[in-house]
Amino acid sequence: MNRTPGKVCIVTGAALGIGRACALRLAEEGARLALFDVLDADGNALCEQLRAAGREAGYWHVDVSDEAQVAAAIDAVAARYGRIDVLVNNAGIAGANKPTDQITEAEWDRVQAINVKGVFFGVKHVVAHMRRAGGGSIVNLSSIYGLVGAADSPPYHAAKGAVRLMSKTDAMLYAADAIRVNSVHPGFIWTPMVQHHLEAGGGDVEAARAQVAALHPLGHLGEPDDIAWGVVYLASDESRFVTGSELVIDGGYTA
Ligand code: NAI
Repeated sequence: MNRTPGKVCIVTGAALGIGRACALRLAEEGARLALFDVLDADGNALCEQLRAAGREAGYWHVDVSDEAQVAAAIDAVAARYGRIDVLVNNAGIAGANKPTDQITEAEWDRVQAINVKGVFFGVKHVVAHMRRAGGGSIVNLSSIYGLVGAADSPPYHAAKGAVRLMSKTDAMLYAADAIRVNSVHPGFIWTPMVQHHLEAGGGDVEAARAQVAALHPLGHLGEPDDIAWGVVYLASDESRFVTGSELVIDGGYTA
């Protein structure tokens, strides 16, 4: 249980779902955690939970679509811990679930602001700190919907496709600085995001969940920890020769 010893790891969207699982698993593996989110009660509760378990952790209120907040918080993390080793760009929202010709510009822009610009701002402001630390690992949460299409949310697909190729470009740009950049592509994972998505359908949530499960050859949805273990691998030195890659964790959805 020491796969990320002493590494200073920022996780965005850490309060709930996949981000929370990433923070818990990274901490278990010896990392020092910086939790970014906009849900202060949940973020602070996670921070207290980690500290009670003897881990080092801090919570910062950061809206990842606000460059000034991202920049200030990243600098504050570096000042507090003396270095930054890992950035997990996890914060994201589901998009408007309707056809392209019915989507407003504001709906489109909101998804891009959080899911795409949020990743851009994180990378932009963390790179100098990682250079000073002698390298680092950036893990960007894309999706199976950054790999294949589906008839649901056009802005979400556009955003996750962008994250996939931003990861590859940044992997090439920063390889000489020993900064690795990879994307993770989850299938459906049982989190508040997916729960709200199924509830918004207005029908029987259990029936909707079974329908979604059937899209995965393994026959069920994933759990947040299924993604967190992949993120731990990419954050750790076990993946020291891995950059510009796509880690697909999807129960066979895209196979
Ligand atoms: P979630 O909705 O359950 O949790 C997202 C977290 O991000 C929340 O704590 C939320 O407060 C935070 N957040 C939202 N907007 C933010 C902002 N502007 N600034 C800072 N924090 C913000 O979502 P979930 O399911 O845990 O998803 C995490 C990531 O994984 C997202 O990028 C999502 O697109 C991606 N993903 C999720 C899948 C799933 O099935 N759950 C499948 C594929 C990708």
